[in-house]
Amino acid sequence: MKILLLGSGGREHALAWKIAQSKKCEKLYIAPGNAGTENCGENVAIGVNEFDKLKDFAIERQIDMVVVGPEDPLVNGIYDTFKDDSRTERIAIIGPSKAGAVLEGSKDFAKAFMQRHHIPTAAYKTFDSKSLAEGLAFLETLKAPYVLKADGLAAGKGVLILPTLEEAKKELREMLGGLFGNASARVVVEEFLSGIECSVFVLTDGEHYKILPEAKDYKRIGEHDTGLNTGGMGSVSPVPFATAEWMQKVENRIIRPTVEGLKTERIDYKGFIFFGLINVDGDPMVIEYNCRMGDPETESVMLRLKSDIVDLFEGVDQGDLDQRPIAFDERAAVCVMLVSGGYPEKYVKGYEISGLEKVEDSVVFHSGTVVKDGSIVTSGGRVIAVSSYGKDKEEALRKSFTEAAKIEFQDKYYRRDIGQDL
Ligand code: AMP
Ligand code: GLY
Repeated sequence: MKILLLGSGGREHALAWKIAQSKKCEKLYIAPGNAGTENCGENVAIGVNEFDKLKDFAIERQIDMVVVGPEDPLVNGIYDTFKDDSRTERIAIIGPSKAGAVLEGSKDFAKAFMQRHHIPTAAYKTFDSKSLAEGLAFLETLKAPYVLKADGLAAGKGVLILPTLEEAKKELREMLGGLFGNASARVVVEEFLSGIECSVFVLTDGEHYKILPEAKDYKRIGEHDTGLNTGGMGSVSPVPFATAEWMQKVENRIIRPTVEGLKTERIDYKGFIFFGLINVDGDPMVIEYNCRMGDPETESVMLRLKSDIVDLFEGVDQGDLDQRPIAFDERAAVCVMLVSGGYPEKYVKGYEISGLEKVEDSVVFHSGTVVKDGSIVTSGGRVIAVSSYGKDKEEALRKSFTEAAKIEFQDKYYRRDIGQDL
């Protein structure tokens, strides 16, 4: 198969690494890719939202399958755009239709969907500028802290957790007043849930599903979960509290009703579902849905997937995912993210990265890197994911930290406490 993978982050490098290992992959293109994905296939200078250019490229190169990494093109309807055009309708798209991507694209839709299908999640109500007064009154009925979520995509910044009622009221006014533009024209106000989070991933063909290894990510910039939120500072798989018994609850109460709910609502969904879960006194509850894999979870999860991912993708497209075997590596896998000093606030790009060739015991996934004048330089806040296997997470983390020390760029920073809370 000729495969086109969309995206340019660590998640996409990890997917590219896995796809390139498949006997079924004859040629892999990555649009736009990064300095790392070039080692797995051929980078193509087309943006993930340039649908016309992507279609022309897919026709010209006789692409058989498009694997969509990030949420943006899915929410913008890349699936429908390919399926509605007779020249590209035969191409397998791994990623849901626009209607399916709304699970991530609208928090209000996701909450209402969970209510319709009795899927455990925090109690909530949604407000717009006309119902601000009701929103303020609803906040008064809740206990601190207060959770406010912009309905639409807000580049990961749309969730605010406020310690006092005064701050929550002020932020609700500001969000409905356009703090996140159109994304916060509606705001979900919900009950705060207390527990440890866990990311669970599923591949579905719309009828059947396969559960991938779960992972925990580390979102804050500072050690011991302090400071600002980031795109993710590291990840660990497996997650010790996700026992077989707990995962059975996840499957019965959350995964199966979600896949069946999509089917009964006639929503085309062939791709990944990412369940952002929280463990509340032993019971899993849904914090959010995403319509794609997680980053940096993918940089651990791909290490643990033993099966041919292209065979699974083929099952997703053909609707026979139940017939495709899936097997996991029993070892632990972790990823430690090396970031630019100053991230997630101001930081400098363009620093040369050295020492990559010295890494022996880890798999290096590029996130924010580009090739400039023959050297690999930093091009983003999150730069390199250092992923490792171990007999347990401690051994895997030791490897990642040893190898992380060999990779150099100016103002490199990483968290040294990944996995320690588990
Ligand atoms: P989201 O963008 O929905 O993943 O939210 C970002 C983060 O906010 C989550 O990963 C949680 O850490 C936190 N969060 C969201 N909703 C809640 C909630 N109802 N209770 C507690 N924490 C939450
Ligand atoms: N790791 C969380 C996310 O990808 O949204």
